[in-house]
Amino acid sequence: MIQATLHQLKVFETTARHGSFTKAAEELSITQPTVSSQVKQLTQSVGLPLFEQIGKQLYLTDAGRELQATCREVFEQLDNFEMKVADFKGAKQGKLRLAVVTTAKYFVPRILGSFCQHYPDIDISLQVTNHQKLIARMWENQDDLYILSQPPEDMALCSQAVLDNPLVVVARRDHPLANQKNIPIQRLQNEPFIMRESGSGTRQAIEQLFEKRRVSVNVRLELGSNEAIKQAIAGGLGISVLSEHTLMPEGTLGELVALDVQDFPIQRRWYVVYLAGKQLSVISEAFLQYLLEHARSRSIWEGSTAANGKMALSRR
Ligand code: PGA
Repeated sequence: MIQATLHQLKVFETTARHGSFTKAAEELSITQPTVSSQVKQLTQSVGLPLFEQIGKQLYLTDAGRELQATCREVFEQLDNFEMKVADFKGAKQGKLRLAVVTTAKYFVPRILGSFCQHYPDIDISLQVTNHQKLIARMWENQDDLYILSQPPEDMALCSQAVLDNPLVVVARRDHPLANQKNIPIQRLQNEPFIMRESGSGTRQAIEQLFEKRRVSVNVRLELGSNEAIKQAIAGGLGISVLSEHTLMPEGTLGELVALDVQDFPIQRRWYVVYLAGKQLSVISEAFLQYLLEHARSRSIWEGSTAANGKMALSRR
């Protein structure tokens, strides 16, 4: 490994991430033969194959996986060093890698927007995905900070509560239940139900409540996106349970309403977490503090009153 250069490690890491020489070449703006030859030289230095090629797809070998994890740590440390140097020079610049669950996309970009006004020289990568895929990213240490509703208990984490994330029953404004109060949860069994995909944290919370209350809903449709579910409800395909935050953009004027159903809202909360033992970069630390200070501020929630974690959205 002594002969391995940083460039080779970068080429290898990019190839491993894409599972493709061609895509790595595109990302790095070099030719595909250069990528192959750099990986070949690195393989010779390691003395073991790093990839197996099956058809057109590349798969990492055990040695390749180990090297990929090592590369992530090396590049992360180098990025941190660069950010510290910039900080010594009085500038906050560098990278911030965030991954958030789908419900959090209704507030995180707003906070990022105002954070970037203070720190314009920061490069941000924001991954929005469901609970299960986010946990997989955490196991692979792919990002600096994560925002999710149920931090896993089998992982050493530092976590802090950010905001409430209540889940409500959502229906079209002209739904017959829209004007009723205190609707028994069992009543939902008569309605076609639209469910998030498996792996979704929202779905997990809904299923837990339905199981506890012995409610068995009639799932008409499964969709992998909160926005698609909102469109399906608006299209008359059924009702669903979503984060109240998904209704925020339209506010009280939208086509959808939250129903007043017993046992709802399901009270959940978002947490910002990072892996215990991870050394946060200067930028991640600054964003973490900014998030904790500003998540509840009114200016982030234009058109709502989310201070205190409560929102102005009316339940009819
Ligand atoms: P989901 O996440 O996108 O996995 O449903 C939402 C959540 O856990 O709050």
